Parts: sequence; structure tokens; C-alpha cells
Amino acid sequence: QKQNEMTTEQTFIAVKPDGVQRGLIGPIISRFENRGFKLVAIKLMTASKEHLEKHYEDLSSKPFFPGLVTYMASGPVCAMVWEGRDVVKTGRAILGATNPLQSAPGTIRGDFAIILIWHEQDVGRNVCHGSDAVDSAKKEIALWFKEEELQKWKPAQFDWVY
Ligand code: PPS
Repeated sequence: QKQNEMTTEQTFIAVKPDGVQRGLIGPIISRFENRGFKLVAIKLMTASKEHLEKHYEDLSSKPFFPGLVTYMASGPVCAMVWEGRDVVKTGRAILGATNPLQSAPGTIRGDFAIILIWHEQDVGRNVCHGSDAVDSAKKEIALWFKEEELQKWKPAQFDWVY
């Protein structure tokens, strides 16, 4: 398949406040770059509760919803859009399982999410967020970014190897 015929997609990835505060923006970006994905938008922002209530609206009936929103609004998050073939599914694999107790070594959460012994594990402190499907990625990207914030650019081609 020629490159310009290939179906690429975009996903929304955010480094959560715990990830930002622990200096993990760089390592997280590296893992996506290392797999050949393309960064098309990035910004550091402290999101309002209203914004996060929209972002997590599918979870509004969950008992952890208010705590998750308060936590996510507690400091800056690093919001990003990554582009590439199968990036939604592969991005979730790069992130690892939602619950830090179940995330495999080699994944972002499996390598960085702290496992607590002194009180119940807070699943929300899991370093990063990634869209779970192509449809939700579209919604999340539209919520966090304006169209003009998404950059169109071409990465270097490594045709002699690949
Ligand atoms: S669920 O219950 O299956 O819908 O949840 P899940 O898809 O695994 O996770 C959706 C997001 O909710 C966060 N989450 C929690 N936050 C705080 N406390 C608890 N107990 C909890 N359980 C799930 C989880 O981190 C997911 O956030 P994102 O930002 O999407 O990774």
C-alpha cells in the first residue's frame, strides 16, 4: 500500500497531573516517537472541571467520577494528538492496562505507575490517558484542540531501511 493511500488515524493522549509532576512528559513522548507515530498537537493546560466533566461524560454515573474530575483538574495535564496507522489501538497498548496493578512491564503504566501499599490503589493515578476507540478519539480531539492547532507536517522517510 502506498503511503498516501494508507488509512491513518489520530488519537488523544494526555499525561495526567501525576505524570506531569513526576517529569514523565519526555519519556511518554519518546515511546510514541520510537514507534514511528507523529505528534500533531501538544499543549500544557490546567483543565476546568466543566471541561473534564465533558471529557469523562460517559463515566458520569461511576462512583469515582467526582474524584477523577477533581484530580484531573488539580494541575496541568499535557494534552497531545498523535497520528499514525492504528494509533488508537497501538496507543492503548503502549499505555498498558488502566489499573497500575495490572499493567505489564514495558508499557508506560507498567514501568511508571506507582503501586501503593499504604492505602487502596487509586486507579486514576495512572500517569496517562488514551482514547479507547476511533470515535471517542475524534470527540476528545475536538474537545481539547481547535482545528488550527493540529499541525500538518511530514516526517523524514527512511525508505532505504523500510
Ligand atoms: S470503567 O469502569 O470500565 O468504565 O473504567 P475504565 O474504562 O477502566 O476507566 C475509565 C477511566 O476512569 C478511570 N478510573 C478511575 N479513576 C479513579 N478511581 C477509580 N476507581 C477508577 N476506575 C477507573 C480510569 O483511570 C480511566 O481514566 P482514563 O483517563 O480514561 O485513563
